[in-house]
Amino acid sequence: MNSLNKKDKFIIHDLRNKIFQAKSCLEIAADLSPYLTDNVWLERSNVATDQAHQLLEELLLSNRNSGMPNEKSDKVTWNLQEYIQTHAKPDLEALQRMYPIEIEVTCHYQPEAKYVCLNDSLIKRIKDNVVDNAIKARATNLSVDYDLKDDYYVVTFTDNGCGMTTEKLDKVLLKQFKKDDIHGLGTQFISATAKDHNFVLTYHSELGIGTTVRFLCPYS
Ligand SMILES: Nc1ncnc2c1ncn2[C@@H]1O[C@H](COP(=O)(O)OP(=O)(O)O)[C@@H](O)[C@H]1O
Ligand SMILES: [Mg+2]
Repeated sequence: MNSLNKKDKFIIHDLRNKIFQAKSCLEIAADLSPYLTDNVWLERSNVATDQAHQLLEELLLSNRNSGMPNEKSDKVTWNLQEYIQTHAKPDLEALQRMYPIEIEVTCHYQPEAKYVCLNDSLIKRIKDNVVDNAIKARATNLSVDYDLKDDYYVVTFTDNGCGMTTEKLDKVLLKQFKKDDIHGLGTQFISATAKDHNFVLTYHSELGIGTTVRFLCPYS
């Protein structure tokens, strides 16, 4: 990431303060009107503000790291099974709490430990984008499968949304080469992050049935 200038940093700190103010107002409102505590929107907005706050922290942190000589230093080695348990699953659970979509996670592990080299915040944002697209496609269910094979692993997201025709999918995937097109940033981000991690990304979609996004990933 390019390093942030003073103005960007000011904006981020300002945003962070505003998010805190909004969160405090919500807390005061819930204190004054206890019946609000059971309100699902209040709960979701709390999760959303927490996430926004975390995202801003990451932005500031990645800026701090951006001065480092090694561009790849932002990737960390993880035990994959532990990573799925302590990061991937909780992230998906948080998204499920925040949005009106059922997220089912299945995992197939290996008897011995497998290691991977990942940038956690980018991987997290892949999930955000996949879930966002599924919701926009009016999916009610998203199944996420982690399949650890001997020599590689596969992560598959399958939604039951509106799906796309082949022509539409081709158009979406080709968009990433038109840098001046500001639409379709989600799939652009997913492709770029997959490329950065040496994942092989494939999309499969059927109109009226749903969409599958599949990442074939190497171990480190
Ligand atoms: N899971 C999906 N199901 C159906 N259509 C999708 C899905 N993911 C992406 N699309 C289509 O591809 C388009 C581009 O997606 P994306 O790059 O994430 O951009 P955005 O979400 O900003 O529109 C979407 O507007 C949608 O038409
Ligand atoms: Mg999107």
